[in-house]
Amino acid sequence: MTQPEIISNTKIFVQETLKDAEGGHDWFHILRVYNNARHILSKETADTFIVELASLLHDIADSKFHKGNEEIGPQKAKAFLETQAVDPEVINHVVSIIENISYKGGHKSSDFHSIELDIVQDADRLDAIGAIGIARTFNFGGFKNNPLYDPEIPANPNQSKKEYKKSRSPTINHFYEKLLLLKDKMNTETAREIATQRHEFMQTYLNQFYKEWEGKL
Ligand code: ADP
Ligand code: NI
Repeated sequence: MTQPEIISNTKIFVQETLKDAEGGHDWFHILRVYNNARHILSKETADTFIVELASLLHDIADSKFHKGNEEIGPQKAKAFLETQAVDPEVINHVVSIIENISYKGGHKSSDFHSIELDIVQDADRLDAIGAIGIARTFNFGGFKNNPLYDPEIPANPNQSKKEYKKSRSPTINHFYEKLLLLKDKMNTETAREIATQRHEFMQTYLNQFYKEWEGKL
């Protein structure tokens, strides 16, 4: 099988697997991350095939939607890539990216590092901020039945990984617990520039939100 055929099969597999996914982690999230990754790739020297496969497979079974199980995503990706007779070295690299991409309150799970991971991670983080990031965050908060905002409940940007994952705090708090921290965590210059604009947009949004909340017309 050629690489374009494998990419095409991967798209079909991911689209089918995520057909009932929550709005912020669905096929369109994958497609945006894939497109972000291709954009960053055009400015960096990295293995295109690995970046494309990892961006398509990075949320194939997010632990948030699988009772906290962090192994099922990498396992599913590996099993699929084996059906496509992908080179075992490529499979290992893609699986390592999937294992290490997640934010989890900023806590890293291993020392694995590669430019391909950096790119896919930036591509995913870009989709967590800006107008889309805001939409995804409120969608996820609604999915969890969390309040939009509660002035009595302060945000906690220094949560442990466990606290971050089980947080039921108001959705506005998530801006301070993750979204506004991402701009300074971008790995590539390309993503940092895009993140800067999206960050400013979120700040404008929050200012307007508080103005309306306080009844300032
Ligand atoms: P990743 O899946 O990259 O590890 P997260 O677990 O933080 O990142 O989740 C991805 C997206 O899901 C976030 O960018 C946000 O939009 C949404 N999300 C996750 N946790 C929350 C939360 N507690 N409140 C609102 N949105 C959340
Ligand atoms: Ni993602």
